[in-house]
Amino acid sequence: MQSLKIAPSILSADFSRLKDEIQAVEAAGADWLHVDVMDGHFVPNITIGPVVVEWVRKVTAIPLDVHLMITDPDKYAPEFIKAGADWVTVHPDTCASPKATLEKIRELGAKASVAVNPDVPIKKVEGCFVDADMVLMMTVFPGFGGQAFIPDVLPKITEVRKWIDDHRAAILVEVDGGIKADNIDRVCDAGGEVIVSGSGIFQTPDYSETIRRMRRAVGQA
Ligand code: DX5
Ligand code: ZN
Repeated sequence: MQSLKIAPSILSADFSRLKDEIQAVEAAGADWLHVDVMDGHFVPNITIGPVVVEWVRKVTAIPLDVHLMITDPDKYAPEFIKAGADWVTVHPDTCASPKATLEKIRELGAKASVAVNPDVPIKKVEGCFVDADMVLMMTVFPGFGGQAFIPDVLPKITEVRKWIDDHRAAILVEVDGGIKADNIDRVCDAGGEVIVSGSGIFQTPDYSETIRRMRRAVGQA
């Protein structure tokens, strides 16, 4: 498989100690940091805005992977990029023109990524892939951390991987939702390479041991 990247989602961190939590996962071997942005409109939960991303940017050097679950990404993506986002993921149903949104993200200097919800057929969204640097496969419905992994998405991850291989495209496959040390092997076998994990890391006592277990589970220890 591709080289595994682990992206802890700070949604499950202790926000009263956010800097310590971020530096702890970075020291534990996290490759990226996943930031879940929710506006209480596209999803029924409110989380983090650009102000927080700006402060997060100051306390870590690893890439910030900002997942926008908001109604108006065209308005806010530029603010998140200005705040320090390296990767920006959008849900295509929130964009007037997904192609234009992805192009704009790239033009502003970030990498562009498109999210696929568990119930969306690949055929419906594959038209966006040519304008993306990454496809984010959701293995839960967006809105909350700590939900149960939906295994029905696994064959679709393989379908996306095949699309990428067939088109010889340099696109990463990220998978997000309910991933823990005991199911990461199935996700990577299906074709995932950037693995988001919130509760699977932040709700364990030893982040280094958990990330080591994840790498070991896919033979990359
Ligand atoms: C769900 C978010 C996920 C989630 C991951 O809406 O996009 O990133 O926080 O958390 P876990 O790993 O706990 O499912
Ligand atoms: Zn996410």
